[in-house]
Amino acid sequence: MNYRVPRTRKEIFETLVRGLQRLEYRGYDSAGVAIDGNNNEDKERHIRLVKKRGKVQALDQELYNQDSMDLGVEFETHFGIAHTRWATHGAPSAVNSHPQRSDKGNEFVVIHNGIITNYKDLKKFLESKGYEFESETDTETIAKLIKYVFDNREVEDISFSTLVERVIQQLEGAFALVFKSIHYPGEAVATRRGSPLLIGVRSEHKLSTEQVPVLYTTRNIENVNNIRKPRVQRLDSSTCLHAVGNKAVEFFFASDASAIIEHTNRVIFLEDDDIAAAADGKLSIHRVKRAASDDPSRAIQTLQMELQQIMKGNFSAFMQKEIFEQPESVFNTMRGRVNFETSQVLLGGLKAHLKEIRRCRRLILIGCGTSYHAAVATRQVLEELTELPVMVELASDFLDRNTPVFRDDVCFFISQSGETADTLLALRYCKDRGALTVGVTNTVGSSISRETDCGVHINAGPEVGVASTKAYTSQFISLVMFGLMMSEDRVSLQDRRREIIRGLQSLPELIKEVLSLDQKIHDLALELYTQRSLLVMGRGYNYATCLEGALKIKEITYMHSEGILAGELKHGPLALIDKQMPIIMVIMKDPCFAKCQNALQQITARQGRPIILCSKDDTESSKFAYKMIELPPTVDCLQGILSVIPLQLLSFHLAVLRGYDVDFPRNLAKSVTVE
Ligand code: G6P
Repeated sequence: MNYRVPRTRKEIFETLVRGLQRLEYRGYDSAGVAIDGNNNEDKERHIRLVKKRGKVQALDQELYNQDSMDLGVEFETHFGIAHTRWATHGAPSAVNSHPQRSDKGNEFVVIHNGIITNYKDLKKFLESKGYEFESETDTETIAKLIKYVFDNREVEDISFSTLVERVIQQLEGAFALVFKSIHYPGEAVATRRGSPLLIGVRSEHKLSTEQVPVLYTTRNIENVNNIRKPRVQRLDSSTCLHAVGNKAVEFFFASDASAIIEHTNRVIFLEDDDIAAAADGKLSIHRVKRAASDDPSRAIQTLQMELQQIMKGNFSAFMQKEIFEQPESVFNTMRGRVNFETSQVLLGGLKAHLKEIRRCRRLILIGCGTSYHAAVATRQVLEELTELPVMVELASDFLDRNTPVFRDDVCFFISQSGETADTLLALRYCKDRGALTVGVTNTVGSSISRETDCGVHINAGPEVGVASTKAYTSQFISLVMFGLMMSEDRVSLQDRRREIIRGLQSLPELIKEVLSLDQKIHDLALELYTQRSLLVMGRGYNYATCLEGALKIKEITYMHSEGILAGELKHGPLALIDKQMPIIMVIMKDPCFAKCQNALQQITARQGRPIILCSKDDTESSKFAYKMIELPPTVDCLQGILSVIPLQLLSFHLAVLRGYDVDFPRNLAKSVTVE
């Protein structure tokens, strides 16, 4: 939204479309925008909606193809909204994409991230009142509901944000919403519960405040029919943010900082149930009840993210760029935390809770997808260094089982985005049971980082590729650092700690060495890319590598791939082995080496042709290998960081050779904010 910043419609489109493009990596199947009409007399009393199934580029085209779309018309104040949709209710189509509208006159339009779980009841109620639905989405109920509340208002001058406050009191589920209306020209209202939402602020002039105070409205409306006189909020200069002297200011509402970082790095993160309203260059925030954080104001924070970090540079895909960034990203994860001279490790975000953690009954590591694999990868070293029982859990399954959790448990929530719905719900579940909660995320200000008692920021830098790569290695290292910090005063573990810390120090160089195998891995991909299936087998410290490698292959190449625990070979997977079935074996010089040699024998005895990922000083395995990828050796418990990289590269090359879009795999989203 721009206030007193003259912009042509073309510039407004460009801002909205570029914002969507920066979020494309999250995965989506359709896109849409809503902007003010172009009738000069009545610009803001008419909303134009343009929606399209498919890529943002298709929407961009459509915007320019529309008849009577005056691109040169200039707006001094303008508020436009845009959205990419990843279908949950209703197939991808223009009518199901957002913005959703209240009626054919587009009186209210809304964009929504998340899922409304009670939408069927609301829809039934609204239909009984004569509202006609055109889409199959849960979001359309929100657009209709706000119109219902507006149509039934008891005072003429009800504020836009009061309407929104009443609407969200009826909603169950997760949402980040932005509303626009012809009844409130030039006004934006946004709110969230469970889904992320932030507001970027750009102003060339001084701002009235750096802490936006939260206004509380105490009235609680129980149901949609029970509409009472609203408590009118008095907005004066001390209760809202604006550029001093009513100078120009722009506000950017977005679910992710990448969408707005080219405009501003000054942002406000909204709390659940906050309602933010912007009009006449002023931004105010109100809510009904106190926030979980109990903070009566929302501070403007300065993000460190650089635009260049979310650009592809010379790489053909974000995923490729992120794989090659790993020497730096792992270094950044350790920066300022590991003292290689004294062998001390300090994670500032956990320091205050260390005593409590040391006294706990057990550690529970919870995550989804790649983040879960980081838990599997580090379980053994954590058991060794903390001498505590360590459980690893997929968030969805953990919740399905109503897993017993106790006050003296310490629960880790591992999530790149910090927004994954299952992980977030598991966090709330553990919090309710009194456990200490620890976040391990890559996103400052994310829901998980805010709702946990303490945590570690993995500092890997923004990850755009849907298939997670550098976040995995940084999560891995963060958890190892936690183990090292826990064992600082254990005399019997000092040699082992020093060995691991030396290993950590040499990782960036060793990762560079692994990355130099890229051409060799590309050649291997040339041999494999027409296959239908690819097995990846290993055990011990490298089992997680097999799970993670197989997940990468599935995600972006659409080949069937399975990570197999070598210890289970005889209990089923051996039946799959023959001359044709491609199988990758991860065999490292660690305590499982001899057992892996047995598995290798069993494979070759059935004419299997194993491609072996092994240590470059391994002369045993080479005798049986059909192909070999040799890796530099490191400490056993860190080997998984090096062994996963060839599989990341392999999946990347396979996907390219198969002609798929590496960064936008079909049906998948980067950040899954629905259960
Ligand atoms: C989605 C992504 C995966 C990711 C998983 C967990 O499925 O496509 O790449 O591993 O979510 O995401 P998180 O942000 O919680 O690590």
